[in-house]
Amino acid sequence: MAETSRHPFLQGLSKHRGAPPTAVVIFGASGDLTARKLIPAVYNLAADNLLPPDFHLIGYGRKEISHEAFRELAADAIKEFSRRELSNDVWDRIAARTTYVAGGYDDPAAFDRLAEHLAEIEKKVGRDVQPLFYISTPPSVFGPILTNLGSSGLAKKHIDHPHHAKVIIEKPFGRDLESALKLNQTVRNVLEEHQVYRIDHYLGKETVQDLLVQRFANSIFEPLWNRNFIDNVQITVAEEVGVGTRGGYYEQSGALRDMIQNHTMQLVALTAMEPPVSLDAEAIRDEKVKLLRAIQPLDLGANGDVSRAQYAAGMIGGKPEPGYLDEEGIAPESATETYAAIRLSINNWRWQGVPFVIRSGKRMARRVTEIAVQFKRPPGTLFAKGGFDLAANTLSFQIQPDEGLSLILNGKVPGLETRMQPVKMNFRYSTTYGSNTPEAYERLVLDAMIGDGTLFIRGDEAETSWKLYTPVLEAWAAAGREGMDSYPVGSWGPASADALLAAHNNVWR
Ligand code: NDP
Ligand code: BG6
Repeated sequence: MAETSRHPFLQGLSKHRGAPPTAVVIFGASGDLTARKLIPAVYNLAADNLLPPDFHLIGYGRKEISHEAFRELAADAIKEFSRRELSNDVWDRIAARTTYVAGGYDDPAAFDRLAEHLAEIEKKVGRDVQPLFYISTPPSVFGPILTNLGSSGLAKKHIDHPHHAKVIIEKPFGRDLESALKLNQTVRNVLEEHQVYRIDHYLGKETVQDLLVQRFANSIFEPLWNRNFIDNVQITVAEEVGVGTRGGYYEQSGALRDMIQNHTMQLVALTAMEPPVSLDAEAIRDEKVKLLRAIQPLDLGANGDVSRAQYAAGMIGGKPEPGYLDEEGIAPESATETYAAIRLSINNWRWQGVPFVIRSGKRMARRVTEIAVQFKRPPGTLFAKGGFDLAANTLSFQIQPDEGLSLILNGKVPGLETRMQPVKMNFRYSTTYGSNTPEAYERLVLDAMIGDGTLFIRGDEAETSWKLYTPVLEAWAAAGREGMDSYPVGSWGPASADALLAAHNNVWR
């Protein structure tokens, strides 16, 4: 028996996972994400021979452009953004099957044309071709696209077959609980849940997948993974970049919606969830939802569980840098937070009393995503006496950019006296596995083609997370700028976020 058919999870780890003949249709084909991530992902999958022989790529957008012009756009995107250089051998294979359909997102006739185009492709191929629709437009048109996929019949294409139509939906999935419920209803009107792939690209990151492997493929962590041994967990998702050219989008979003509700909460869920009964998509998603449901409502009062801030002007490398309010496209009195920190209390058997403190911000000191699990200090009867300060043992998952895992231990400095120093055991992806690992979107596009939803968000996951954060968003909207802290560009965030840990006699790592 082939290894891949023995264990469902091995399918996910094996290179040799067969996708059926597929036509990937990208709505928003002229967009930023398409150029920076989606086309390069398709290209790298082709370079790794992971695309099915009858693979087709269809760009869909409002502009009237030719097939050839879309191919040029795609080739330019690969040259600029792919992790591999464009090789004509690989590109020619995709280009021959890359086409473009022009049409509005709310235009039923255009969706009929798309359906005809897909039917022609099937005729040429001579067998069924699974459509994979990738909705990569601003969220304002998610609804119309879904509705038109329904009314054109495309959503139900090959529905009785495992290679039925599938839809990837980009983030954000709603902007609060009410809109997420509404979007889920629109999705359900048109699709069955197993056809839906709500994306959170953090789940496609190698190091995020490795979290499950580290936790459940090693026996040394699980006995310690609870309130008896762990003092606190700190999750940092810091970005060095600001809002760039996305000011218009960001003003409507802010750090809580953009990074905390989705990416950061996925890291919380994977770190804290119970072992799933299997590595099946539903088993994992059930555990994540159970964990999210155990998080207590947040205290929004002064000295409560939340902190928000905007970056202020500062100096980086001797050069003055503007604050958020001076960036292009930002309202002078904007009340949008570029930083949020939250202290979560998980009220279950494993975690009661262990604070999970999470933070994410733009224009911080350095780009780093890290999960730091800090263990309780040993009793101070021996080495902690006489002024020795013991460092807390800390296991850190470095999600990016210098991917790896490290453990801080206390060690004796060689010498004739007993002097201690924290030492770090390090495992680096770059030295162990080399560089040029697949990007998140490669993994996610391939998984959706194969029909594996493990690394995607289920509807109730999105709703549970929004339920936790909607009261915060409402309170912040009502308060306007009142209570908005600030932090200088290039720093580690505001004082109000330090207070979240200080209340537990701790500091950010
Ligand atoms: P863009 O603003 O680049 O828009 C994508 C495409 O959608 C445009 O090229 C345009 O295509 C169409 N479009 C733009 N505005 C409208 C509008 N008002 N009404 C109808 N169609 C419109 O978006 P991105 O590519 O940046 O993002 C796409 C999706 O991916 C969004 O949901 C975003 O939140 C998500 N995302 C983006 C990331 C990024 O880094 N860019 C990161 C993570 C998620 P055309 O004119 O050809 O129809
Ligand atoms: C996106 C956010 O989802 O994630 C961006 O909209 C953010 O604002 C980006 O910059 C960060 O992703 P990554 O993979 O670079 O950490």
